[in-house]
Amino acid sequence: MKVCIIGASGKLGIYMVQHALDRGYTVVGVCREKSVGKLDAFKGRITILPGATNDRAVIQKAVDGCDGVLTVLVPWGAQHYATGTARAVLDFARPDARLIFSCGWHITQDGQDVYPSAFKMEETFARWFGKVTHILDIDDQVKACRQVFASPTRWTVVRGSDLAEGESQGLPVWSRHVGDPILASNLTHRVDYALFMVEALTNDDLIHEAPAIVGCRTPSALAHSTVV
Ligand SMILES: NC(=O)c1ccc[n+]([C@@H]2O[C@H](COP(=O)([O-])OP(=O)(O)OC[C@H]3O[C@@H](n4cnc5c(N)ncnc54)[C@H](OP(=O)(O)O)[C@@H]3O)[C@@H](O)[C@H]2O)c1
Repeated sequence: MKVCIIGASGKLGIYMVQHALDRGYTVVGVCREKSVGKLDAFKGRITILPGATNDRAVIQKAVDGCDGVLTVLVPWGAQHYATGTARAVLDFARPDARLIFSCGWHITQDGQDVYPSAFKMEETFARWFGKVTHILDIDDQVKACRQVFASPTRWTVVRGSDLAEGESQGLPVWSRHVGDPILASNLTHRVDYALFMVEALTNDDLIHEAPAIVGCRTPSALAHSTVV
């Protein structure tokens, strides 16, 4: 399998590169020019295309011939970075390719998610802070996911809980809606978030789903392991 990892040099991206190589996949990574060095550990084992992830020419070349595309959707800046990235992937990936996108629990597919009040307050603050500083544009990430949800491609949008570094605990569990008891612990190790993204490439049950994930060894996952 040939996979493209868009945002390969970030924390999530580097874990995804490793999981993909562990499976024997051929990997093409896209990352900003100044971040190429972060992928030195993979020199000779992956192809790197430097560029902004919303650069349509870079994305067109990167996804060419790929069976799967793993996209780290980030709301950086005020230049429609997330929507530009998602649009390019949706436009240029092979129609039969598996497309996996990352985002957070704040994205909702059907409006049925029920958020803890602390979570809502944090999101409101991030939205306000982002608008004032032009560092973040949460609404653009929301729009990017709406583009994906409306697409006829073979997509999955993986909604991450709060993240932490740490050893792998195994494949996270998931549910369709934030608010479901299995997700209450709201914590996933980043290495396992990446594992879920890479596993989704070969899990057709996740096509047109937006799984909200949580670590499989967290108290809520252990207490409610039969959900989904
Ligand atoms: N952080 C959390 O707690 C959390 C929680 C839930 C879900 N998520 C989701 O998980 C995914 C990864 O998030 P993460 O926090 O773990 O980050 P990450 O993996 O470190 O990824 C950040 C990405 O953004 C790029 N980036 C950083 N600054 C940028 C800028 N100014 N302009 C353009 N690109 C920039 C990085 O590229 P460089 O390598 O070039 O810097 C990297 O590819 C995202 O989809 C996020 O929504 C995160």
